[in-house]
Amino acid sequence: MATPIIFLILAIFVLILSALLFLCKIKPCCECEICKGYLSTSWTLEFKNLCDWYSHLFKKSPTGTIHVHVLGNVITANPKNVEYMLKTKFENFPKGRQFATILGDLLGRGIFAVDGELWKLQRKMASLELGSVSIRSYAFDTVGGEIRNRLIPLLESNNNDTVLDLQDVFRRFSFDSICKFSFGMDPGCLKLSLPVSDFQVAFDLASKLSAERAMTASPLVWKIKRALNIGSEKKLKEVIKMVDILSEEMISHKRKNDFSSQNDLLSRFMRNINDDKLLRDIVISFLLAGRDTVASALTTFFWLLSQHPEVKDEIRAESTRVMGKTEKEKLASFEEIRKMHYLTAALHESIRLFPPVQFDSKFCQEDDTLPDGTFVAKGTRVTYHPYAMGRMESIWGQDCLEFRPERWLQDGVFKPQCPFKYPVFQGGLRVCLGKDLAIVEMKSVALALIRQFDFQVVAKEQTPRFMPGLTATVRGGLPVVVQERQQQ
Ligand code: HEM
Repeated sequence: MATPIIFLILAIFVLILSALLFLCKIKPCCECEICKGYLSTSWTLEFKNLCDWYSHLFKKSPTGTIHVHVLGNVITANPKNVEYMLKTKFENFPKGRQFATILGDLLGRGIFAVDGELWKLQRKMASLELGSVSIRSYAFDTVGGEIRNRLIPLLESNNNDTVLDLQDVFRRFSFDSICKFSFGMDPGCLKLSLPVSDFQVAFDLASKLSAERAMTASPLVWKIKRALNIGSEKKLKEVIKMVDILSEEMISHKRKNDFSSQNDLLSRFMRNINDDKLLRDIVISFLLAGRDTVASALTTFFWLLSQHPEVKDEIRAESTRVMGKTEKEKLASFEEIRKMHYLTAALHESIRLFPPVQFDSKFCQEDDTLPDGTFVAKGTRVTYHPYAMGRMESIWGQDCLEFRPERWLQDGVFKPQCPFKYPVFQGGLRVCLGKDLAIVEMKSVALALIRQFDFQVVAKEQTPRFMPGLTATVRGGLPVVVQERQQQ
């Protein structure tokens, strides 16, 4: 009996001590306009999303950088600063202990959460694997199978006036695809009956609750809850346990069978790594990185297309030019997908305006000064903001708010932009490892759907309102009515 009481007293003592330390580090009250606006949430009177308010503040800032003192957070939309933190002074801007602590229970020592040597090693191995032709064609075939056998039949079966949430469909689609790619396992989330997979439920809840840790007023709140195993932390522990059990089952199943010629990521890593816990961590990082991002990008792309039918028409025209006048159900080959420059441009333009990762933070290791003159003290959280950067006139010109795929084309050929002015996939040494796979996956899905169906978004005029989280998710989803397209 005495032990829990002593434990509780100790926990409260640690809480008070850490609260004092935390309050010394940040400025709990600040009279500057930005902090007042943040604390009073007065920005909600004018803006739908916090990221819209930040975009407005960056435009007013002469440096394109702001400081939210009450959060101890320097936030920048200045490409020179972004290049500095992601490339020039990469070592001084790691993800940091704070990030690893928040996501550590779910991600363990996986690439997404760690810095230093452990990151370098995984990055090297993963880059080698992801660069191989065989994994790219495995990924392409996996996505093609999911489109042909599940996505299309699902939409065909819904081909009436029923309203379908396209965001939910894309989330299920990308979960099936990333699980097959990473584990060689099929959770079957997009089967016609839209079954709910245990793994998906556990994984979704684990990511959501982990992300919510970052939103608590102070990290102490969730740390104490974790120590006492109560509330959301108790739930988080349970769902992580489920993710662990299911991952362990998959790994041990593979160990008992011959995985030497299997193409999924886990089998590939298993050929070099014997530590099953590390294998679990690596693959879970891929799941987190590659699942919601793709679903988010597809959701906002279809929302934008509903506002810009001329872009959809141009995508159809390009597909006819490249694929010829074939039946609309035919899926494009890898080579045909590659040739569709307008589609590539339209997708890049869409994620310029609606990046799946709206902002991303690092923690400054030693006192530093950013290229725009902003001083950053050791331990400060420094965030770059792709969402706001896509809306800066100084970066994209006066028409920055317009959805104009042509800005990515030169003589009809797609021309990429500097990653530090367009850090949608991050940039520098930790640039997204799945970028090429993601682009091909999104092009395949978008093309197949645009060729075969017409989508009518219900409540068209609303601009997306996002839910807080690691990846941009549209509140209320994307309700659509799907209709088979009449062949012209
Ligand atoms: C539209 C889709 C995607 C977007 C916008 C995106 C964006 C990003 C961003 C911004 C980061 C940096 C995050 C951070 O450091 O906190 C990142 C990292 C990463 N992404 Fe992606 N991603 C996408 C799809 C994918 C896919 C499909 C995969 C896997 C197949 C993937 C694998 C990774 C991995 C492994 C990292 C960690 C790299 C490292 O830390 O060295 N991503 N991605």
